[in-house]
Amino acid sequence: MQSDVTTKQEKLQEKLHVGIIMDGNGRWATRRGLSRMRGHEAGVEAIRRIVEAAPKQGIGTLTLYAFSTDNWRRPKAEVAALMTLLRFYLANEVASLARNGVRLTVIGRRDRLPDGIAAAIARAEQATADGDVLNLRIAVDYSARDAILNAAAKAAALTSLTREAFSQLVTGEAGLRDVDLIIRTSGEKRLSDFLLWEGAYAELHFTERMWPEFEAADLAEALACFHGRERRFGGLQSLPLEPAPSL
Ligand code: FPP
Repeated sequence: MQSDVTTKQEKLQEKLHVGIIMDGNGRWATRRGLSRMRGHEAGVEAIRRIVEAAPKQGIGTLTLYAFSTDNWRRPKAEVAALMTLLRFYLANEVASLARNGVRLTVIGRRDRLPDGIAAAIARAEQATADGDVLNLRIAVDYSARDAILNAAAKAAALTSLTREAFSQLVTGEAGLRDVDLIIRTSGEKRLSDFLLWEGAYAELHFTERMWPEFEAADLAEALACFHGRERRFGGLQSLPLEPAPSL
């Protein structure tokens, strides 16, 4: 028999999956005469606000882009500072995430992270594994193209493959809901190698707000825009979707 926790976690798949490209920390700080690091710290405060707001706004899964495989190209000092912030986040936030029913998983590579971070991630994932209020995924050393490539390498050993099975290889999670909405802050209009497989039919929302100033009300506005869109998934307006022919 399925446990109560498993059933509640499965129910999260009925709620929205939102991905956020948290952009603009550096510009937000520089415009205020602050160090870029201060911008990233303010970015962590924004993460706290949005993680708290998300379940109240109908979000079951929230994927946040914290560090891309290309971010290693930044100056060493900034990379080190971001890794320190991640270390602090994992150490200080886990108790409150667990208390609030947030299940944390980290997606992306772990083998290139500074010493101790992979172990801290594993501890945080274990401590929050029963969370059934929000599935929070943080992308660190992440590249969607690499995730697809790695999945393809694993799939090569299989004799048959479905989209669902391939999705699990890409996302690392069985039955993960496709991304409904991708938000990018700071006015940039790019996907930057984020959720390319899971976001195939995602609606896109771009806002001028810098990530450190992004509030629950901005999330609500993005969701209001999303709910105003007509999602056709390749079908026609107001007609039920016909099944597609099998491959
Ligand atoms: C983009 O701003 C932001 C990042 C590359 C990092 C996002 C990181 C955080 C929000 C904090 C760390 C996260 C965790 C989970 C501890 P940018 O630096 O590219 O800003 P800019 O485009 O204005 O320079």
